[in-house]
Amino acid sequence: MANPDDPNVPGPAKPPVGAGGNGTTAPADKPAVAAPATPKPQAAATPTAARAAVPATPKAAAPARPAAPAPAKEAAEPDPNQLRRRLTWTCIVAFLAANFLMFLRFFFPRVLFEPSTVCNLGYPSDYVLGVSDRFKQKCRIYVVREPTQIFAIFAKCTHLGCTPDWKPSENKFKCPCHGSGYTPEGINFEGPAPRPMDRAHLELDAQGHMIADTSRLYMWDRSKGGRDEFNDPGAFISV
Ligand code: FES
Repeated sequence: MANPDDPNVPGPAKPPVGAGGNGTTAPADKPAVAAPATPKPQAAATPTAARAAVPATPKAAAPARPAAPAPAKEAAEPDPNQLRRRLTWTCIVAFLAANFLMFLRFFFPRVLFEPSTVCNLGYPSDYVLGVSDRFKQKCRIYVVREPTQIFAIFAKCTHLGCTPDWKPSENKFKCPCHGSGYTPEGINFEGPAPRPMDRAHLELDAQGHMIADTSRLYMWDRSKGGRDEFNDPGAFISV
């Protein structure tokens, strides 16, 4: 049996001071069992004890915090299949849109609206003898008045189609492209032009205006022995 006076025996030999509250020593035959039952208030109130007790609750919640960011990372990463699907649909929509636009394009054909070939040249009395370039820009026509007739030269070079200029000082037409020259009657005499300039159909309307039509031309292809159409009805107006 343990000796109560033995200093190696804990607890019961010397009960803690204050357990009795008045500093008196407890009787030796009383066990020190009561001491654990009433823990020291000082020990529980110390910061060390408090620190030891507090971690219990935060440690339980701690695992929940790091778990939250994980799904966010997964959501931020692009899904390759989804990207592939989006790219495929984008290509399909773009292809259909392009085809639809091409379909609509058929309703707006590229048509050249050429000016009218019919031109009102006014009264014969408006012209004096010689060449008039009044309607060169508007109708591509030179009006030529002679003592007995008026005719309309279609101002298109018979070489490659440029518009010859009237040179009053030289009394001739001169093509600016390759230098073909024409007399005041439109007969070629120099340069590569193969034949005289054509003449537009000419007639008088009910008011006495001269109406020229460049869609109806009279020509004289001398180089090929062609017939002279300059004397045909409609190639001139007698005055
Ligand atoms: Fe007139 Fe060539 S187009 S000379």
